[in-house]
Amino acid sequence: MVEIRYAREEDCPRIGAVNAAAYATGLFLANAFPQATPDERAEYMHFRAMQTLLDPSVCTLVAIEVETNTIVAVAQWRGIFSEERQSIVLSDEGTAFVKREFSLEPRNQDVINAFRALVQAKRERYLGDEIVLDQLCTHPQYQGRGIGATMLQWGINKADEMQKDIYLEATAAARSLYSRLGWEMLEKAVLDYGLYGGEGVDKVYFMRRPHTR
Ligand SMILES: CC(C)(COP(=O)(O)OP(=O)(O)OC[C@H]1O[C@@H](n2cnc3c(N)ncnc32)[C@H](O)[C@@H]1OP(=O)(O)O)[C@@H](O)C(=O)NCCC(=O)NCCS
Repeated sequence: MVEIRYAREEDCPRIGAVNAAAYATGLFLANAFPQATPDERAEYMHFRAMQTLLDPSVCTLVAIEVETNTIVAVAQWRGIFSEERQSIVLSDEGTAFVKREFSLEPRNQDVINAFRALVQAKRERYLGDEIVLDQLCTHPQYQGRGIGATMLQWGINKADEMQKDIYLEATAAARSLYSRLGWEMLEKAVLDYGLYGGEGVDKVYFMRRPHTR
């Protein structure tokens, strides 16, 4: 059984680990940070999770496996506001952690820029006042048990209450899950890492879920 709650500062190391593990076999990270070890990726994702906690327009949710009190999945929603979310204040240690310079090197900046430009161009084209799902990942050991769908249902309920649609960029792995829960395809794009000195091709799907209330 899983329970969903807003993320806290002390969750961020595990959020980084879940994120790095979920994307470990993905082409983007392999091309963007070709020499990074799994631990280095997890540390970088920990840093990014802390930065996101401080962004008032995004709320991070975690799914906890109740029996083991372990974080097993993470979702980041842009545009869902709540009292709980607004009260996050980092400790002095956490503040120092997010303020330091932290860049994962070496990196293929052309790959990172190409991915960002693609996402940005489509958001400019399609985004109005939708809620945006910036991130969803389940630790590989816990995938296929309905946890991703439970995380999505949390956001769907909020979006329907607010009478707002939900926009997202989907990986090939997640596309059928989103379709099943009501997302419609806006556009498909191909990201050819070979054009930027990398290897392989990713498909990216741009999708929107109309609100149902
Ligand atoms: C996509 C993801 C979040 C789904 O999480 P989950 O907890 O396994 O989700 P659920 O159990 O509710 O649903 C599983 C669905 O994902 C698909 N899936 C993708 N990868 C899977 C895997 N390794 N194991 C099982 N199912 C997987 C299944 O086909 C299933 O779709 P369906 O219900 O339409 O058949 C998870 O696979 C993941 O973290 N993937 C890597 C990161 C990623 O691609 N995130 C999506 C960004 S848009």
